[in-house]
Amino acid sequence: MDFTVNHQALAYLVSAILFILGLKGLTHPATARRGNLYAMLGMLIAVVATLLSREVQSYGFIIAGIGGGAVIGTIVAMRIQMTAMPQLVAALHSFVGMAAVLVGIGIFLHKQDTGLLNTLLMSEISAGVVIGAITFTGSVIAFGKLQGLLSGAPVKFKGQHLLNALMALATIALAVHFAMTGSMLSLALMTLLAFAIGVTVIIPIGGADMPVVISMLNSYSGWAAAATGFTLQNNLLIIVGALVGCSGAILSFVMCKAMNRSIFNVIFGGFGSDGGSGDSAGAQAAEKGVKSAAVEDAVYWMEDAGKVIIVPGYGMAVAQAQHSLKELMELLGERGVDVKFAIHPVAGRMPGHMNVLLAEADIPYDQVLEMDEINPEFPSADVVLVVGANDVVNPAAKEDKTSPIYGMPILEAGRARQVYFLKRSMRPGYSGVDNLLFYYDNTYLVFGDAKDTIEGMNAALKGGGH
Ligand code: TAP
Repeated sequence: MDFTVNHQALAYLVSAILFILGLKGLTHPATARRGNLYAMLGMLIAVVATLLSREVQSYGFIIAGIGGGAVIGTIVAMRIQMTAMPQLVAALHSFVGMAAVLVGIGIFLHKQDTGLLNTLLMSEISAGVVIGAITFTGSVIAFGKLQGLLSGAPVKFKGQHLLNALMALATIALAVHFAMTGSMLSLALMTLLAFAIGVTVIIPIGGADMPVVISMLNSYSGWAAAATGFTLQNNLLIIVGALVGCSGAILSFVMCKAMNRSIFNVIFGGFGSDGGSGDSAGAQAAEKGVKSAAVEDAVYWMEDAGKVIIVPGYGMAVAQAQHSLKELMELLGERGVDVKFAIHPVAGRMPGHMNVLLAEADIPYDQVLEMDEINPEFPSADVVLVVGANDVVNPAAKEDKTSPIYGMPILEAGRARQVYFLKRSMRPGYSGVDNLLFYYDNTYLVFGDAKDTIEGMNAALKGGGH
């Protein structure tokens, strides 16, 4: 059978529907796996339908690209640690950005002497190249910050906003000039300026606001793909790009709302901290008299408790403590303790990070509560077990107007009768801000790797308690 343009349009329509069903599935952990399968099927149909297109002139380069990419992708996917996922996502966004830049420039060079370049096409090329270039360098900087290659602290300098505004205006002027004249020089300058904007827009954002950066870049990568779709006249790419662009933008808004930030402030304000230092936190701790406790102390209070709330954070992911936590939940449950998990929207290092890990350990969804649902329950909790979380329970966000995390809603763990922090040292969390909760009268620190500590708790509970 001949694969006609109509067949392709139909296949693309089916793909688009599957992508929408995929996104819908990803809105809840229980349906996320199915959502992923829909999206994967949609992508398979899209790739096959594109490869069957009559426009494909040679399969050699395509097969080489797919082969090379598949090998690299498989190796990376098998090796990647869960804790490094945000960096990987940032790196993948940078590829989308660079692809948009290369496709745009490629189309221009290809059609330059054909007389087919018109103002509309060149406007589309400008949009794809500019958004793609900003996405590329922005994602590279985000990768560097998340991987620890660059300081996570915001980089601010005088006149930063003015510089950004001037560069944005110059880019728009060059884009208009390029669209009207087809000047290669304007295209080159515009691309370079957009690369620079990607850097200057992302460097002032840091600390606890990084999650918004990741979702914003996700959104940009979608818009870059959509603009490329216009250039290539590929409807599916336009639809998929718009889906990614919109869902990324919605996620950014949701995260900003959850963190009580205005999106404008995150992009232009450069919130974040100076990175803090473990030593000074430790020294402060000694001065202020932080109380440490043994595993047995925490077990003693938990086994007779009416309610225990567990607050997982990035450290749980590092320690891979979710399976031991499930066992702890069961052991306490057998003793009639009501155990719940409290999830902060930016706990961990990527949206939904904690939900994914708890789901992996088969922790029932009805015991996993979001911040708004669980906050009223803290005053009635006998024990809060903070497992490798830090920023998300730091009362500095409410009490210290000078703190860079001031205004961010937190899990109100400090209102419980007792709080036990499982962490390895006095080091602060991602934002680098010292945690005021450490110094509360009802707070105790149980030092050690979270998984080891929880396994110790489980052993004590199995041994009959104290
Ligand atoms: P953090 O504030 O980063 O605190 C994590 C804590 O885990 C640290 O205090 C660390 O203390 C402890 N830890 C690390 N490894 C451990 C181990 N093996 N065993 C026990 N404890 C360990 O984490 P959070 O409370 O989840 O907050 C998340 C932060 O990351 C927020 O500031 C958020 O804005 C930011 N962020 C979030 C995202 C997304 S999208 N969720 C993306 C980027 C950044 P020790 O070193 O003393 O053990």
